[in-house]
Amino acid sequence: MEKAEFVVVANRLPVDHITGADGEQTWGRSPGGLVTALDPVMRNADGAWVGWVGQPDLDIEPFEFDGTHLVPVRLSAEDVELYYEGFSNDTIWPLYHDVIAAPRYSRVWWEAYQRVNRRFADAAAAVSAENAIVWVQDYQLQLVPQMLRQSRPDLTIGYFHHIPFPAYGLFSQLPWRRQVLQGLLGADVIGFQRVADAGNFARAVRRQLRYETKASGITVPNDDGTTRRALARAFPISIDASSYMQLARSEQVQARAVQIRESLGNPAYILLGVDRLDYTKGIQHRMKAYGELLDDGRIQVEDVTFVQVASPSRERVAAYIQLRDEIELAVGRINGDHDTMHHTAIRYLHQAYPREEMVALYLAADVMLVTALRDGMNLVAKEYVASRVDNRGVLVLSEFAGASDELGSAIRINPHDIGGLKDAIMRAIEMPAAEQGRRMRSLRRRVLEHTVEDWSRDFLQALDAFHGREETQ
Ligand code: F6P
Repeated sequence: MEKAEFVVVANRLPVDHITGADGEQTWGRSPGGLVTALDPVMRNADGAWVGWVGQPDLDIEPFEFDGTHLVPVRLSAEDVELYYEGFSNDTIWPLYHDVIAAPRYSRVWWEAYQRVNRRFADAAAAVSAENAIVWVQDYQLQLVPQMLRQSRPDLTIGYFHHIPFPAYGLFSQLPWRRQVLQGLLGADVIGFQRVADAGNFARAVRRQLRYETKASGITVPNDDGTTRRALARAFPISIDASSYMQLARSEQVQARAVQIRESLGNPAYILLGVDRLDYTKGIQHRMKAYGELLDDGRIQVEDVTFVQVASPSRERVAAYIQLRDEIELAVGRINGDHDTMHHTAIRYLHQAYPREEMVALYLAADVMLVTALRDGMNLVAKEYVASRVDNRGVLVLSEFAGASDELGSAIRINPHDIGGLKDAIMRAIEMPAAEQGRRMRSLRRRVLEHTVEDWSRDFLQALDAFHGREETQ
């Protein structure tokens, strides 16, 4: 293939490996928002996407899919264990989410992280045309920007960090903190979800590397004694709002929402939680609050049902195995205490669903509970808002989710304050229609005026404007 002018580098490719009923292997487009956002850019720019297919030990040659050139990076079973499950998801993930679970610092994992980041950087360098734009995604690939800059100084390099960047006091635990900062600073533009994340990053750069930072600009020394400028600022990600609205307006989806309510025994109120099964999401906190409201007699199981969709995630990492056990124990206890023959307290679904079913659930839910203890953005909050074309429903939103910076008309809560969370749930259940409408209209304005397309355009414009601003000392 021709070399590409625009290259995305992400841990995963934008496709899923599907085995058909007849055993035939095909590819299907992944449902994620990033894929949708970058689709037009990839097509127009004749782009390439470098990433892992999601399964170990698969040797797949580069191939075309839906107008995009896909470049698979092979990960062995050992790479998956050490780089993906180990360093990415048992070191960086818990450390960057405020140490909700204890991060493990393993030198063997760090070796694997460097080795695999090098493999992604080499694959990206090989497919990039002269002066191409390369956009690296997320915490699994923090060393790739610097590796690319060293091998291909002609490239314009962007990096977007989808998860939080922690306060300096936590980040400084990382034994390889300087290498990670240097890795990220290989990019011309380093994007974060929140202003606070960009601030935490700039502080870490000042404290660890002693580089000068001014507003969003960072002065980075080059090897030859000159300096260059990098930009580190917030670019809050969003969703493809119109596709959610379109589904929410479809008759089939609306009929399915009615059917969901019926199948739950037509309770007066449905509370909904939708998360990957992850300890950052505060699933246990919301279950505790709901269970206590039933215990206290402030709500009855006939009137208020709680639906929790917890999609399977990182199932071989110890903290996730333990979390699943704890959640399922809590569900069993609450249901055992409160279920009747006709009504269940918590309808718990350890499954993932297609987008149509999710929008039907959003339409069926009177109250959406987003109680994350820490979350880069939380797109579920935005999906719920975009889907409520009827301007009804109440969003209860953790102040520790990035979305809270934008969605000021939600009922904002501190998930650690179980008393406050219980009161917020009651307030949401009892909220008059007029207030629901007022709040939902204001939330919708924000989500509809800043979509994932705006996000990628803003980032790429900043990258374009910022590249090549050399400074000499
Ligand atoms: O939120 C960070 C993130 O990497 C998302 O980009 C992704 O959808 C999710 O976590 C799932 O992660 P994994 O690739 O580990 O299944």
